Amino acid sequence: MNREYNAKISGIGSCVPDHIITNHDLEQLVDTNDEWIQSRTGIRERRKADSTQATSDLATEAAKIALRSAGISPEDLDAIVVATTTPDMAFPSTACIVQKNIGAHHAFAYDVSAACAGFLFALSNATQHIQSGMCRHVLLIGADKMSHITDFQDRNTCVLFGDGAGAIVLSNSDDGEGVIQTELGSDGRHGDILSVPAGGTRQPLTAETLPLRKHYIDMNGSEVFKMAVRAMENSARLLLEKTGYHIDQIDWLVPHQANKRIIDTLGKKMGLPNERVFINLQHYGNMSAASIPVALDEAYRSHLLKPDQLILMVAFGGGLTWGSSLLRWTMKSQNNE
Ligand code: UT7
Repeated sequence: MNREYNAKISGIGSCVPDHIITNHDLEQLVDTNDEWIQSRTGIRERRKADSTQATSDLATEAAKIALRSAGISPEDLDAIVVATTTPDMAFPSTACIVQKNIGAHHAFAYDVSAACAGFLFALSNATQHIQSGMCRHVLLIGADKMSHITDFQDRNTCVLFGDGAGAIVLSNSDDGEGVIQTELGSDGRHGDILSVPAGGTRQPLTAETLPLRKHYIDMNGSEVFKMAVRAMENSARLLLEKTGYHIDQIDWLVPHQANKRIIDTLGKKMGLPNERVFINLQHYGNMSAASIPVALDEAYRSHLLKPDQLILMVAFGGGLTWGSSLLRWTMKSQNNE
């Protein structure tokens, strides 16, 4: 690699709300059942933030843990990038709110909006901030309060989503370790199969539009399913081809956690055995931009990720947006964290 600097993960953390919503809890709200949810999605429970917890609160907690694990202070940060589709408000950005909360006064801060693929889009930005020499330490957070845009009267979607935040600190490394390459894609022509139609400037939220419930997630599940598998497989294959790695060299696939059947199909198509695919959606459902960093954090804290291992991350979301990223893991497991 011919770069002066590269970006490596030097710290990681996550935060999910305490409140657990089980499949049985959802049986009380909509016409569904635990057997259907588990067999069609793999999800057993998800977390739900309370009315006082905004996205930035989850993001701030995850950020503090990631900074501690990196052993740096907030003042050392040069940038904060938050991937979210559920910001606290239109502006200030959630990243600026996190900046204030943690006291990272030397950082510039902004949000990235790419739905469930947001973390990988933000990772691409953050990596380039470091590779260009502009930044030494970037705090990168995927955070979403999906319960805010989930219609708990719609059984097609309310069983799928959960709230959470995951954060990493990306730091410069002069030995070329860390993020190898990221591949991104979008196709706005199919934006309508997964969207939140109202609440923006196209369909403002008014007393008349509120009962139509268009300010919640609207999804054509089976279309999204098919496109997700296709786009993630193509993206991952392209990334491997460009970087010259073979699927057999991948130690862990850490995919976006939307549906176990999507992940199993992807793993099978890619020729990856189940033991090398990390899945934690049974506990959290789909946390959108938070899914991958929370999964990475759990895999790391469970001592599954070891230095020098090759990690492949893939994601797909509304937009449509998708991406994949290959990195060499550099952090040693810490028993006392
Ligand atoms: O990160 C990107 C965001 N989203 C995703 O990746 C999600 C992608 N899609 C999926 O995960 C799946 O398509 C779903 C889990 C949403 C649905 O699974 P499916 O196997 O594609 O089911 P389906 O949409 O074809 O629906 C099958 C049946 C329907 O009933 P009918 O029309 O066959 O009588 C649905 O009404 O299942 C019914 N159904 C439910 N039944 C019980 C849908 N949701 C539920 C539910 N409980 N919660």
